Amino acid sequence: MNFAARRFILRIALLLLVSAAPLMAQQTAHLSIDASRAGAKIDRNLFGQFAENLGHGLYEGIWVGPDSPIPNTRGIRKDVVTALQALKVPDVRWPGGCFADEYHWRKGVGPAGKRPATVNSTWGGVVDPNAFGTDEFMDFIQQIGSQAYVSVNVGSGTPQEAAEWLEYMTAAAPTALEKERAANGHPDPYKVGFMGIGNESWSCGGDMIVDYYLAQLKIYSHFVRNMNPAQQDKNQMLKIAVGPGFPETEWTEAVMKAWKQHDWAWDFDGLSVHWYTTPGGWPLSMPSTGFSVDDYDKTLKSTLFMDEFLRKQEEVMDRYDPQKKVALVVDEWGGWYKALPGTNEHFLVQQNSLRDAILTSLNLNIFARHADRVRMANIAQMINVLQAMILTDKEKMVLTPTYYVFRMYVPFQDATFVPVDFDPGTLHRDGITLPRVDALAAKDASGKLWLEITNLDSEKPVEIDAEITGMTVKTAKGETLTAPAVDSINTFAAPGTVVPKPISATVKGGRLALTVEPKSVTVLSLEP
Ligand code: AHR
Repeated sequence: MNFAARRFILRIALLLLVSAAPLMAQQTAHLSIDASRAGAKIDRNLFGQFAENLGHGLYEGIWVGPDSPIPNTRGIRKDVVTALQALKVPDVRWPGGCFADEYHWRKGVGPAGKRPATVNSTWGGVVDPNAFGTDEFMDFIQQIGSQAYVSVNVGSGTPQEAAEWLEYMTAAAPTALEKERAANGHPDPYKVGFMGIGNESWSCGGDMIVDYYLAQLKIYSHFVRNMNPAQQDKNQMLKIAVGPGFPETEWTEAVMKAWKQHDWAWDFDGLSVHWYTTPGGWPLSMPSTGFSVDDYDKTLKSTLFMDEFLRKQEEVMDRYDPQKKVALVVDEWGGWYKALPGTNEHFLVQQNSLRDAILTSLNLNIFARHADRVRMANIAQMINVLQAMILTDKEKMVLTPTYYVFRMYVPFQDATFVPVDFDPGTLHRDGITLPRVDALAAKDASGKLWLEITNLDSEKPVEIDAEITGMTVKTAKGETLTAPAVDSINTFAAPGTVVPKPISATVKGGRLALTVEPKSVTVLSLEP
């Protein structure tokens, strides 16, 4: 080999070394946390759930009926209630979704034997026995210790129907509807924390143009009243208007412009937006099991768009509402994949893998970083539908990886955001670039500092070197969630494949050193 050729090879080798150096260096992530810096409150309602009358979400997932051999309390599964109690679910959105705009509440109250069977035209045309109605939903909410978020029917209902529903639920004075509720066994008025005025009114909720929707919104907002005496001055029901399920902002612009001009007669407190992770778009092609590492990367890339999606909506909201009075409510989000083979495609059944756990922490961290405007979110959906917390099959129940992430994040509910300065690094694979790590910190009401670290890298661990100032920390302990493969799942036969395990670290001189495993979610409490 002549001198020129040798020099050329040496140059190439040097170039390769130089370009690889940042990648190698990124395997240590340096975090800097000043515990005395405080951001917005991470509203506990960011950890809300969505339970639509869809497939086996309510029927079988929650409701088995009082005569079922499956252990239940007044028809509601005990195993599911116990599992959900541990999540401290702040609110549950019901009865839809698209189903809400065809739900007529009167068919779901009164003696079980007298309720009419109807057709669930939105979701598969199956017969709906209406056994799980308003009183059963409220019973479920009380059993799991949550709050009701009801979506009223704007698409095929009337303001009168919705007003009577709210009166049935919340009246304390002896009106006919209050007496009817009492006769159905519920003398005390229910609390309704949130009321959604329509759902996706630009699509399944009635294909409305925004001006038509605004006219409806004003009427419903004025006439549909919460009458519960305990919700008049304090704990008022928040009204949530329909926002977009697409990144374009014309709908938001029109609704916020109207809000800015609103008079005493109508108002709303939140704007609902829907954004799902649908890698590859529609029609859905991404499987929920047996997928590749490339599919994992594509899914995470797609889910990280949530940040841009929120920014676009916030930019418009900030112009009309700089004081951030109106909350952005992401009341449908999560991974939406191809239905599991052999299932009814209208039932939106999918498996839930370690990939969904990572997707969950990334989205929760995005919401927390937007917490000054994003004050509520509801993952779709709670049980047996889309990115579920829980899967059931008759008497069997299994907790999904997503369930465990929600459980690990309980300390972040109502905690105060503490900014984390860090370089997330980059992962390059097959034309996709992802951050290597993500992190979130917050202080809870007792002053304890919590730190979450997500390692997106499916192959390599990451060394965490975190400098903590603003408080004295000596130990760190918590849980980490990972599994053998990105598509690892929990099954009824093997429910323990993706479960958190304890992790701890020492902190010396204000520096925490810890190795987080590949494709993992870790939550630590930092102790003095
Ligand atoms: O969550 C499934 C469906 O997705 C909801 O019913 C609808 O609002 C959205 O399009």
